[in-house]
Order: sequence, then C-alpha cells, then structure tokens
Amino acid sequence: MKIEALWNQFSRRQFKYLGNIVANSDAKTVCDIGAFAGSVSRCLWEHIKDTDKELYMIDNYLFLPQKWRQPFFNTVKKTVGTSERIHTVLEDSHTYDWCQHNFVVFSHESFAHYNPDLKKLYTSNVGTVVIDLPLNCFERTKSMLEHIQTGKLTPRYYIDGTIVCGKETACTLPTESGELFGHPIQYAKKAKGSYANAIDHILDNFNV
Ligand SMILES: C[S@@+](CC[C@H](N)C(=O)[O-])C[C@H]1O[C@@H](n2cnc3c(N)ncnc32)[C@H](O)[C@@H]1O
Repeated sequence: MKIEALWNQFSRRQFKYLGNIVANSDAKTVCDIGAFAGSVSRCLWEHIKDTDKELYMIDNYLFLPQKWRQPFFNTVKKTVGTSERIHTVLEDSHTYDWCQHNFVVFSHESFAHYNPDLKKLYTSNVGTVVIDLPLNCFERTKSMLEHIQTGKLTPRYYIDGTIVCGKETACTLPTESGELFGHPIQYAKKAKGSYANAIDHILDNFNV
C-alpha cells in the first residue's frame, strides 16, 4: 500500500497556497486535525521543516482495529518526515486540546466530527485556521458561511473553496482583493480550467 497515493485533501494549487501561508505565519506549533493518510501534514511539513515550527498530527483512526492504529500512524508519519518536531497524537480531537496550537488545519471527516471542534475554535486563541468548504456537505458549508457572516470567524484568504481565517498573515503568492460578508479578503484568481482549455482546443482546430 502506497500511503502517499491514498488520498489528497486539497488540489495542487490549494496545497501551494497552504504551504506558502504556513511558511509565512509566525505560528510556533501547527496542527493537522484528522491526519488520515498525511497529505496535509506532508504539505505543512515540507514548508516548515527548515524552521523551528513543530507539527502535531491528530487522528483517532477509529476505522481501524485498536492494535493497528498506532502502527498505521507511525507509517503515515514516516511519509511526512523523521524529525522529532513531528508529533503524532492518537486521540479524539474532541478531547485533545488542539486550541494550544497557533495554526490549525481542519481536515474533518463529517459534520459530526467538525461541529464540536468549530464551536471550540471561535472561543479559542488559535491564530490561523484553514477550513475547506465541502460543497457536498450542506451542514458544514452552511455553518462555515454563517460563522463568517456573524463575525465569529474572520476570513483572510479564499483559495478554490478553502478559507483561511484568523489573524492577519502573509501570503506571497498572487492574490486579488475582494470582500466576503463585509470582511476584506484576498483570493486566488480563478484558474484556467477544462472549459477554457476546451475552447482553446476548438479555436486551434479552426486556426482562429
Ligand atoms: C477526511 S480525513 C482527513 C484527510 C487528511 N487531512 C489528509 O490530508 O489526508 C478525516 C480523518 O479524520 C479522522 N477522525 C474522524 N473523527 C475523528 C475524531 N473525533 N478525532 C480525531 N480524528 C478523527 C479520521 O480517522 C480520518 O483519518
């Protein structure tokens, strides 16, 4: 089984922005809630490995028999790195105190997993949180947008459906200025997609 090929939480472009933002942040400890097969952790670590930042990977791996949970976590960790600054926490994110970390990526598997942590988030001192808008999950998308609308979360960046919220933090990749529910926000301009490529292909065929 090739762990790296199992699953990607984000697109290549979203990972690029996530890496840039975590590298530029002043966070000392970075936390990946729901580490699963490590795609988010690998991106985070790649961009912080040459700093003194520490990475905390949280998962309970409830889908595995108990005796295989830590061995699987150890295998996932090896795909991220061997540094002692990478920590694995085999625990329920609803009991683990992830609010102690400065930069948190929400990689929740469902509304039931996400909602208790979201409630903890907006009374916490976490500096930056990265949350995706899963359009196939109405409850998570609705709750996320409502929290921004009511000012419980302050959006800073929008990257193809992933929203970075919290305090001001730098991103050195190209962004445009916009507004979301009255909050100023920087967003990555719509990338050229398959529709535009198909039109280019048609124009090429007609030598236009
Ligand atoms: C969608 S996956 C996350 C993907 C991952 N971030 C990646 O980059 O590959 C969701 C993960 O959340 C974990 N999970 C679900 N409920 C949890 C809980 N209460 N506490 C900790 N982890 C949980 C699951 O075991 C699963 O590994």
